[in-house]
Amino acid sequence: MKQAKGEAVRKELLPGQSVALLKELHLIGRDGALQADSLRKLKQVNHLVQLLEPALRDAFERHPEAPVIVDAGAGNAYLGFVLYELFLKSGSSILYSVESRPDLAARAQERAKKLGFDRMKFIQAQVATEATAAGLPERIHVLTALHACDTATDDAIALGIRRNADHIAVVPCCQAEVAAQLKENPRQARAPWPSIWAHPIHRREAGAHLTNVVRALVLQSFGYQVTVTELTGWEHSLKNELILARRVHKEHFLARKELQALLDATGIKPKLVVEMQQELGLTQELPQ
Ligand SMILES: C[S@@+](CC[C@H](N)C(=O)[O-])C[C@H]1O[C@@H](n2cnc3c(N)ncnc32)[C@H](O)[C@@H]1O
Repeated sequence: MKQAKGEAVRKELLPGQSVALLKELHLIGRDGALQADSLRKLKQVNHLVQLLEPALRDAFERHPEAPVIVDAGAGNAYLGFVLYELFLKSGSSILYSVESRPDLAARAQERAKKLGFDRMKFIQAQVATEATAAGLPERIHVLTALHACDTATDDAIALGIRRNADHIAVVPCCQAEVAAQLKENPRQARAPWPSIWAHPIHRREAGAHLTNVVRALVLQSFGYQVTVTELTGWEHSLKNELILARRVHKEHFLARKELQALLDATGIKPKLVVEMQQELGLTQELPQ
């Protein structure tokens, strides 16, 4: 992908999105151009923002007092800054950015201060730890995670479920966990399953696919209605699967059964399932 300049930059902007913010985030350079990497990142963020808009509107309607939004594995917090500019500038809602790298969290916090984005809060911690939990309100309303590395996406989903998020939207990053399990433990699954992941490249893809299927089933088990879709064109991101979940029930028994059957058949135990085994009330032991 080439850089964008002039009119091509303006075409990338969402209604209400300012060049000034994108310059402050160093996505747009001093010359007013979007370099290829920045253009790719902006496309990912803006597509996610558009797909998140109905969830945000719903949260603002249901919790007009102060909806709480959490961005997990925030990195430079591009997504948070864009969401804040477009939806949070007025009102009293709070956006929490959770990021484990101290340098990134500190830099984003500085930027928020400079921009006067007062209700953007930063928690420098692993998504899964008590530190994250302590820094967040008991109830969150929208949880997002854009390319949170490997099992950090699982931690983000678990956090969202435990904090009763109305909406959870994750775009998973590269995944290695389940592919390694398939390699270590191929005998768990009966034929013809092992043929699906006999070769390393298939194992990687099958592992990533199974991980996301399990994530969707876990969310459904907790009463979320799940849509799995593309984030943006494949040319803008290879990690392009968006799992959008909206809570509509308390739980879903059939999804739990389906999840159990899939775990039994494949012999995998992804982090999200291990983490939430008790809450899921899985009837049988997870495979060893
Ligand atoms: C690929 S970057 C994506 C950043 C950002 N969401 C974006 O799309 O620009 C993933 C970020 O997640 C952070 N991260 C990874 N594991 C984490 C965890 N368990 N808790 C919090 N942050 C984590 C990394 O430090 C990194 O900044």
